[in-house]
Amino acid sequence: MKYKKSLYPIVKKEILRKNIFSIEILCPDIASIAKAGQFVHILPDNMTLRRPISICDIDKENGIITIVFEVKQEGTQRIANKNKGETLDVLGPLGHGFTLLPDAKKVVLIGGGIGNPPMLPLAKYYSNKATVISGFRNAECVILQNEFKNTGAESILCTDDGTAGRKTLVTEPLKELLANGNIDAVYACGPIPMLKFVAAIADEADVYCEVSLEERMGCGIGACLVCACKLKKEGKDVMGHVCKNGPVFSSKEVQW
Ligand SMILES: Cc1cc2nc3c(=O)[nH]c(=O)nc-3n(C[C@H](O)[C@H](O)[C@H](O)COP(=O)(O)OP(=O)(O)OC[C@H]3O[C@@H](n4cnc5c(N)ncnc54)[C@H](O)[C@@H]3O)c2cc1C
Ligand code: FES
Repeated sequence: MKYKKSLYPIVKKEILRKNIFSIEILCPDIASIAKAGQFVHILPDNMTLRRPISICDIDKENGIITIVFEVKQEGTQRIANKNKGETLDVLGPLGHGFTLLPDAKKVVLIGGGIGNPPMLPLAKYYSNKATVISGFRNAECVILQNEFKNTGAESILCTDDGTAGRKTLVTEPLKELLANGNIDAVYACGPIPMLKFVAAIADEADVYCEVSLEERMGCGIGACLVCACKLKKEGKDVMGHVCKNGPVFSSKEVQW
């Protein structure tokens, strides 16, 4: 696995929503090799364990990656406390990203809540061949909608309470798109119950599906076993590492 580790400067920081931050990091050596679906492992100040955050945007020309994350506890709070001009200790890019299908004519990208950020590089790659279905709890949690629209992808916004977009779960528009046919692949990131339903619906429609899983992590490079997970390969149960073999897996490999 090819990855870099250094202190990299923050070139932009924005508060997107309450507790949701977007940080642009100038790291040309990471940006030049980063792929859709990979993540970076960031060391918060005065902590020993890094925090995994997906790469939300890759600007290879200017050597910048963007991360979008929600403050959960102390680690993400310390990352969010950093400002433009300060540095972040970043290890990356890590993990196995999404499989890009150059011949695909139509794909569906599904993001649930803070699972939306890793869908943006895929939306940029597929552009008008993609339909992005984004799901959030309510209007106050909605992020990245202009960014998705700017990629040329069609976008469908859903909220649990109907305060923005359609009042439905992301699985409903997915079923409608699959019923119309001609979908080559489905990609998803979000809470496990959502991923499980998405995988089952894609499976029933016999459409290739990849999901990005979240697991607690230690090293992030396959050396500590913290992120061990059960997988299925050629009908057999095997152990894998979310950090190294994933975070993106074919939905058929995952033991739900
Ligand atoms: C591959 C991957 C990509 C991710 N991408 C994003 C993203 O783009 N945006 C975003 O907001 N969040 C993302 N997360 C979740 C994010 O890593 C956790 O919210 C964060 O680690 C919580 O740290 P904390 O110190 O604030 O919280 P705490 O809960 O206090 O963290 C304590 C410990 O648990 C680990 N941990 C807690 N929750 C998670 C979790 N869900 N996944 C992995 N480790 C966890 C932390 O690394 C730390 O070691 C991602 C997780 C993974 C595995
Ligand atoms: S986090 Fe150490 S093996 Fe995956």
